[in-house]
Amino acid sequence: MIKFITKEQVLPLRNEILREGKLKPEECIFLNDAAADTFHLGYFEGDELVCVASFHKQLHEKFEGEAYQLRGMATAANYQGKGIGNRLVNFAIVYLRGKKINYLWCNAREKAFKFYQSLGFELVGDFFDIPGIGNHKVMYLKIQ
Ligand SMILES: CC(C)(COP(=O)(O)OP(=O)(O)OC[C@H]1O[C@@H](n2cnc3c(N)ncnc32)[C@H](O)[C@@H]1OP(=O)(O)O)[C@@H](O)C(=O)NCCC(=O)NCCS
Repeated sequence: MIKFITKEQVLPLRNEILREGKLKPEECIFLNDAAADTFHLGYFEGDELVCVASFHKQLHEKFEGEAYQLRGMATAANYQGKGIGNRLVNFAIVYLRGKKINYLWCNAREKAFKFYQSLGFELVGDFFDIPGIGNHKVMYLKIQ
């Protein structure tokens, strides 16, 4: 089941899956996590939170219109490849379409390109390095 969750609930999975458990939860906080127009989604299997993602209202210089940035996309290792991430992002797309948002974008890790492409995202521009994490590209999905 997909639910809106708090900015605190996203932190353990962010750390475990995106930072290999190397950080303290408070070190996984993003600048816009607490912004009024940010929302965080979680997928629960029973009581267990197994997938999280955060959505920050954030323009990208290359695109026009109202935009959100997808950040902190993480599915618990035992639950990856079961379509849970796909369902979570599709929920957000429908929600954002209802809010008249034009596009969703993210800085995608190379390993996750196929995941985002399967949701309809397109690759934009050149590779760039995020220190300690690796090669990324911007990915973009027009939602209306
Ligand atoms: C990337 C990530 C968030 C995707 O989440 P997920 O829940 O595994 O995503 P899904 O299961 O919806 O899709 C993943 C793959 O499983 C496939 N899949 C979907 N339903 C499936 C099912 N029922 N059975 C098997 N595979 C399935 C999808 O086709 C997709 O494959 P592809 O990417 O090779 O096309 C997850 O793998 C993860 O947390 N990775 C580590 C962190 C990371 O890289 N985050 C992204 C940072 S930019």
